[in-house]
Amino acid sequence: MSVESAVMERIKPTEAETASIAQVAEEVMSMVRERLEMYDLDLEVRPVGSFAKGTHLSDPDLDIFILFPEGTPRNTLESIGLSIGEDVLGGRRMYSEHPYIRGVHKGIDVDLVPGVRISTAARMQTSVDRTPLHTEYVLANMDDGQKDQTRLLKAFMKGIETYGAEPNTRGFSGYLCELLILRYGDFRKVLEATKDWKEGTAITLGKRGPPMIGPLTVYDPVDERRNVASAVHIDTMSHFIVAARAYLDRPSERFFFPAEREPLSREQLRAKAVEHESRLITVIFDRPDVIEDNLYSQLWKTQRALAKKLNDFDYNVLRVIHEMDEEHLVIVFELERDFLSKTHKHVGPPVYVRAASSFLSKWQDNPYGRPFIDDGCWNVITERLYFTAREMIIDEAAIAGIGREIDPGTMEVRDHESTLGLTAPALLTELLDPLPSWEF
Ligand code: UTP
Ligand code: MN
Repeated sequence: MSVESAVMERIKPTEAETASIAQVAEEVMSMVRERLEMYDLDLEVRPVGSFAKGTHLSDPDLDIFILFPEGTPRNTLESIGLSIGEDVLGGRRMYSEHPYIRGVHKGIDVDLVPGVRISTAARMQTSVDRTPLHTEYVLANMDDGQKDQTRLLKAFMKGIETYGAEPNTRGFSGYLCELLILRYGDFRKVLEATKDWKEGTAITLGKRGPPMIGPLTVYDPVDERRNVASAVHIDTMSHFIVAARAYLDRPSERFFFPAEREPLSREQLRAKAVEHESRLITVIFDRPDVIEDNLYSQLWKTQRALAKKLNDFDYNVLRVIHEMDEEHLVIVFELERDFLSKTHKHVGPPVYVRAASSFLSKWQDNPYGRPFIDDGCWNVITERLYFTAREMIIDEAAIAGIGREIDPGTMEVRDHESTLGLTAPALLTELLDPLPSWEF
């Protein structure tokens, strides 16, 4: 049996499972329908998303839209749509570009989203209004074989951690997987197509829209102004390309179902750090009560901001990774060094400019020696602001441009030794010994 058919047996929901979810969907929709009758408006409830399209994996979420007539003001949409949602699901309000209700019915996650019914994307009021059009497009263009091929592609993407357009994954959404299958034909052909992908590749299934900035463009067949792959980061795209090649060379279920990696022991991690002659630093913040996706964007931003500071101050980042748990945000850096000389060279103005004289008088009594000429400029040896990376981070984090809701007041910074002693071995293993998930 081929790897793909073995995987398909494991991932394809059984008919019984699908029937029981259909039952749950029907219950939610009829509860919504009952309530819609109280309003003198032309309202409709419609299943969308992967379950409606038949491209779901096991344990899917249900995406259900409450459709209002075109032109319905946003506040009507929200007041009616959200209160029905709260009433039916007892769920909580979520905000993307557009508010919706997220809840659970009979153990299944359900999103109830108010939107307007439109015939073409040109008339949409918010971006969620495209979703029913996506569902119609896939239902009209995809056969059952391709639905299964989509399942394979999604499972592959999940296994190699490139599935999902959320800020932490920065990867491929379910709809993007569907479009890739439609464009190239099947799972294998999508993987083969990546041999020609490079940064800036643009793919179309119909009308080609305006040029877009970004590593990968997939024009939305229901709205050519929209790039369905806009969330895909260059690193995620690269990861997918590499995994696709590795899989085509040597297919294995490992790509779909990676093993749990055994972390290195603290002794082994210490030995790695000694081999690298590098230095580690861990920065930890309390986790604020913010919607997870927003928090992940802020965590990425914080990681970038601190890495920039470390580079600006010459500690030079080799590699950085992060992790979020219930209580904390953790960022671990591997640095070229975490300790610098007490003094450094401070470059002043060219000798021939007016400001040169004030530079000279300022540094006249410098304890580390008088100003000297280098490259036509006055230079002076001065004491550094910070000798260690830890001191620098402690002082500079608050002004580094970290995530808005991440509180630098809760920050704890572990130096090399306490990182080796206290930071989670799994995280340090990933940092010091990167390995693709299919090779675990
Ligand atoms: P979902 O994220 O639930 O995706 O969004 P999905 O297609 O149902 O896939 P899985 O199986 O649950 O992972 C529901 C719909 O919202 C639109 C798509 O039309 C999608 O089918 N959507 C969602 C986007 O267009 N882009 C996104 O990034 C997310
Ligand atoms: Mn879904």
